[in-house]
Amino acid sequence: MIAENEYVIHEPEQYKGRFTAEIFGNDRPLNIEIGTGKGRFITELAASDPSADYLGIEKYSTVLLKAVRKFSGNVLDNLRFIRMDAEYILDVFGENEINRIYLNFSDPWPKDRHAKRRLPSSSYLKRFERLLGPGGCIEFKTDNRELFDFGLSEAGQSGWEVCYLSYDLHNDKEAMQTNIMTEYEEKFSSLGNPIFKYIIKNPKPGPHSS
Ligand SMILES: C[S@@+](CC[C@H](N)C(=O)[O-])C[C@H]1O[C@@H](n2cnc3c(N)ncnc32)[C@H](O)[C@@H]1O
Repeated sequence: MIAENEYVIHEPEQYKGRFTAEIFGNDRPLNIEIGTGKGRFITELAASDPSADYLGIEKYSTVLLKAVRKFSGNVLDNLRFIRMDAEYILDVFGENEINRIYLNFSDPWPKDRHAKRRLPSSSYLKRFERLLGPGGCIEFKTDNRELFDFGLSEAGQSGWEVCYLSYDLHNDKEAMQTNIMTEYEEKFSSLGNPIFKYIIKNPKPGPHSS
């Protein structure tokens, strides 16, 4: 079903550097969520912001199918999905092609030997730095304190500036005015877990900086 679905971009490598023009037919900013899961976050975000284009990226077809089924009942022009492992993200997106990256409740990979598989790791930050334009941001939410501290430390060591930091997002009234709950966020916050969030900014210099 995923292989034939019209809202899933097949062989995404062919659109490298040209996603907004060829998929969405415009030149709006392109924002992506990696590890979209069942898709509630990216669907609500895209619906609330017609000024940008959105892609939900998910590794597993079985999970993505749930997102796509939900979406098929209420199609948005500015949202499509890709089934892929973020490991290969540099094959799919071009330099400076992305405006913002959302990572929500990313898999923690608790064993040290798997640290490079964590999406907030420096190994991924190096790739994200290339894909994001200068000043482009990553927004990360989790209830996993170890993963959160690890991500913050990796970001600091890689020169990313922290623009927003909360150890209890759901008690930050201002931030909650625009917060969109993910499926995992709803589940873990209802158990009483605090939700952690940071926003970090790409250290890459702009074209006019010396
Ligand atoms: C814990 S779930 C969180 C789902 C959703 N973001 C939420 O907050 O409800 C993590 C999701 O990321 C996906 N994922 C993990 N590693 C990935 C990768 N390397 N590339 C793409 N998706 C990945 C998993 O398949 C899973 O659906």
